[in-house]
Amino acid sequence: MGKFQWDKHHESLSLFLYLVIFFSYQLPSSAYTLPDKYFINCGSNIAVNVSFQTFVGDSNSDVSFTKQNSFVTDNRQASETPPLYQTARVFRKQSSYEFKINTNGTYLVRLHFSNSTDVSDAIFNVSASGFLLLHDFTVQKIGSSTITKEFILSIPIGKFLIYFVPQESSFAFINAIEVFPAPPDFISDEPTQISRTGNSNDYKGLLSQALQTIHRINVGGPTLTPDNDTLLRTWLPDDSYLTNSGIAKNSRVLSGRPNYDIVTEFIAPDLVYKTSKEMASNDSNITWSYDVTRDARHLIRVHFCDVISISLNILSFFLYINSNFSLNINPYQKVNDFATPFFMDFVVDSDDSGFITISIGPDSNSFYQNAFLNGVEIMEMMGKSDLVPVTHKSNNMYPFIIVGVVLGGLVLICIFGGLLFIGLRRRKSKHVETSEWSPLPIFKGSSHGNSKTPSREGTITVSPVPNLNLGLRIPLDEIQLATNNFDKKLQIGKGGFGTVYQGTLRNGFKVAVKRSQPGSGQGLPEFQTEIMVLSKIRHRHLVSLIGYCDERLEMILVYELMEKGTLRDHLYNAKLPCLSWKQRLDICIGAARGLHYLHKGASGGIIHRDVKSTNILLDENLVAKVADFGLSRSGPPDQSHVSTGIKGTFGYLDPEYFKTQQLTEKSDVYSFGVVLLEVLCARPAINPALPREQVNLAEWGMRCKDKGLLDQIVDPSIRDQINPNSLRKFAETTEKCLQEDACDRPGMGDVAWDLEYALQLQQTAVVQEPHEDSASNASGMLSSHVFQRLPSTNIEFEGDDMSIINEDESDSVPSASGVFSQLKMDEAR
Ligand SMILES: *[C@@H]1O[C@H](CO)[C@@H](O)[C@H](O)[C@H]1NC(C)=O
Ligand SMILES: *[C@@H]1O[C@H](CO)[C@@H](O)[C@H](O)[C@H]1NC(C)=O
Ligand SMILES: *[C@@H]1O[C@H](CO)[C@@H](O)[C@H](O)[C@H]1NC(C)=O
Ligand SMILES: *[C@@H]1O[C@H](CO)[C@@H](O)[C@H](O)[C@H]1NC(C)=O
Ligand SMILES: *[C@@H]1O[C@H](CO)[C@@H](O)[C@H](O)[C@H]1NC(C)=O
Ligand SMILES: *[C@@H]1O[C@H](CO)[C@@H](O)[C@H](O)[C@H]1NC(C)=O
Ligand SMILES: *[C@@H]1O[C@H](CO)[C@@H](O)[C@H](O)[C@H]1NC(C)=O
Ligand SMILES: *[C@@H]1O[C@H](CO)[C@@H](O)[C@H](O)[C@H]1NC(C)=O
Repeated sequence: MGKFQWDKHHESLSLFLYLVIFFSYQLPSSAYTLPDKYFINCGSNIAVNVSFQTFVGDSNSDVSFTKQNSFVTDNRQASETPPLYQTARVFRKQSSYEFKINTNGTYLVRLHFSNSTDVSDAIFNVSASGFLLLHDFTVQKIGSSTITKEFILSIPIGKFLIYFVPQESSFAFINAIEVFPAPPDFISDEPTQISRTGNSNDYKGLLSQALQTIHRINVGGPTLTPDNDTLLRTWLPDDSYLTNSGIAKNSRVLSGRPNYDIVTEFIAPDLVYKTSKEMASNDSNITWSYDVTRDARHLIRVHFCDVISISLNILSFFLYINSNFSLNINPYQKVNDFATPFFMDFVVDSDDSGFITISIGPDSNSFYQNAFLNGVEIMEMMGKSDLVPVTHKSNNMYPFIIVGVVLGGLVLICIFGGLLFIGLRRRKSKHVETSEWSPLPIFKGSSHGNSKTPSREGTITVSPVPNLNLGLRIPLDEIQLATNNFDKKLQIGKGGFGTVYQGTLRNGFKVAVKRSQPGSGQGLPEFQTEIMVLSKIRHRHLVSLIGYCDERLEMILVYELMEKGTLRDHLYNAKLPCLSWKQRLDICIGAARGLHYLHKGASGGIIHRDVKSTNILLDENLVAKVADFGLSRSGPPDQSHVSTGIKGTFGYLDPEYFKTQQLTEKSDVYSFGVVLLEVLCARPAINPALPREQVNLAEWGMRCKDKGLLDQIVDPSIRDQINPNSLRKFAETTEKCLQEDACDRPGMGDVAWDLEYALQLQQTAVVQEPHEDSASNASGMLSSHVFQRLPSTNIEFEGDDMSIINEDESDSVPSASGVFSQLKMDEAR
């Protein structure tokens, strides 16, 4: 459906045409008619539709692609597990599926597995055509409810067997299988091979290899599901692979259809070619770093379609792969027109870093200084293996039992489940003859989060909560290498949460490595939240998560290094040079934009919950980035927020949230108001050493503002440089943020806007004195908020606050939040 960008009214027509085209494909090559196509729903006698494809139950699939009109019970509908994954076939001995192949050629083979408790003990190998496709495979390590492995194989005419070989005393299983021919010329036999030193030559015999898809990326665009793809592929966005998101931006989306001139839409669908990433400025390379198997050979396919040039032949740029290979790309030497897709294949050996980097960068000889990329596919080449079964005796073909078919009510399921469990046990111990099979119902789904479309590709999955993004997983030895095995000399911070090290990844990337006490098991929810939240978002004003490691009980988060440390250290508490008023405004604007993005941006509705000056970090250019999402919550406020209990840091806590425990974005706005005061006054949010009425900055600041004495508490080191109008605007903004009633507070977008206005007033004042008055009038007009004093309940709150902070370092609360908090720089640095 998504393939043709027609409107809703045409959806059914579109689907119909789609099916026609997909199954009796007549366009560029009438050879592509899918003569041998198998879409099999394993362990079932019913058909299941996924996207536009029908998966036939395997127990009646020998009738080639007959549409089995299966009944659908309400119960199946209610289950959270996608229907295709509700049934599986289980093998306790070496077993195989056999497919009749009538045409020589390149085939796509997809294996679908669910991650449910029933099958979590399975460990097995899968092989086909002499290739070991999966070895020691288990779903225990995957972080999602389903996983799809895709392979590209050359299959000759005859029988094609896929072997499942369980490890001793374990078993193998499979939920669904797809085997269908790739479109003509899908894979070229002789792509360019790149050596370590960057030389290129022709590789021979790619078609005799097996390929496994590792990454399939829609650069500059959204996730594409099988619904959106011509070959039921899944494409993921590129953002989490960018090594520096600030220098790339999504290009405008092509409105029409790309010109499929030299490639077909089966190479990649429209939606891949319509979007791209391009340079955000004219002088930086854009680099993506993809995790791959170490020391293995890979096929890299890069997709291009120029949607950014305003006229033909004005743009060329460089493509770099790893450090040594570069190639000048001039789209108009490949194609004749704007918006015409093409792709290039490279055979590349990975080194022992476990990463392949792909960059695009400007060509100084180009008239138009830019570079773009639309899509990336990385496939691992798998060698032949001696360890795999060879085709023999096929009379012993189906030694399996069916697990599956969710029928009947919950009670029935429980009873059945119990029986099944006992039955399975007995079968196991008795070594039942392998020729019989029997249907066994299992119940799946309740333990899974809101699982979305089943993921269909490689090891990367559209992960439902609480799954981690496996694409960001960094091996422990890589982190040990980066930090010189957690060298004390590289330590840049330490606290209750563990230790922060500075490190350098193999690709030269400087990182901060936050390691919790190994094995403590504390803070796991915060750890997972931070990965989930951060892996979804990239923004100039949010600290980027580069990866994580959860090997061997470790909980390690790897971020981009923020060389200048926390905002707080630049305001007070450290012997750092004083920030000017303009710098402070720039920092506040940046942080406000970052928070605005969290609240309203692409993955939207994320509440930070712990906004404070130690969670605003500065990079080498003093660009502010918001950090530490360990407490954040996504989604609109709902029941679950009510019961979570208060989290955050005293001194910054929204009094309304404190009273009602209703968490909203406006709580972040309040905390940000406190940060604004901190920036203005250069003192902590809570300072118990001060006279009682001054302890709480929010209260004290607003009291002074109320009396018109705000300039008295402004940081003396900037008092002389602040323009009064800028100060007034800033104070108004702060006051609005600190309104008692959450609905009186502005959104972060408005806050950012107001702060920009304050910055403008400051700059205007420096440049042109005469305009000052009119500007001041304008800012006066904008102020419509009547100050409300903080409520008396807050006084008690302050009391609590003091007793807690007296024993701690004044703005952090000893709680789980400490586990992954503060990327603080040591004073030694
Ligand atoms: C699957 O789709 C086909 C049309 O392609 C339809 O005839 C069939 O009823 C569908 N089956 C199910 C289980 O929805
Ligand atoms: C298929 O390939 C085999 C060798 O791999 C060859 O002997 C055979 O003739 C081919 N058949 C067709 C129909 O191309
Ligand atoms: C996948 O399986 C593992 C082990 O059984 C489990 O810890 C994890 O929560 C599962 N993930 C999902 C999304 O079900
Ligand atoms: C699975 O493959 C591995 C090779 O990686 C091999 O060592 C192991 O023996 C195989 N297991 C079985 C049961 O064949
Ligand atoms: C790049 O090439 C040089 C020699 O030209 C070689 O020394 C270096 O190791 C190569 N880099 C990589 C990452 O292989
Ligand atoms: C992908 O397909 C789904 C289902 O048809 C549709 O809702 C979605 O909008 C499509 N995505 C894009 C980017 O077109
Ligand atoms: C790069 O951009 C700057 C402004 O952003 C412009 O002044 C400069 O000419 C550009 N350089 C090139 C080579 O296009
Ligand atoms: C882009 O990267 C290549 C290879 O690392 C380097 O030679 C080139 O100077 C870089 N270009 C820019 C503009 O940084």
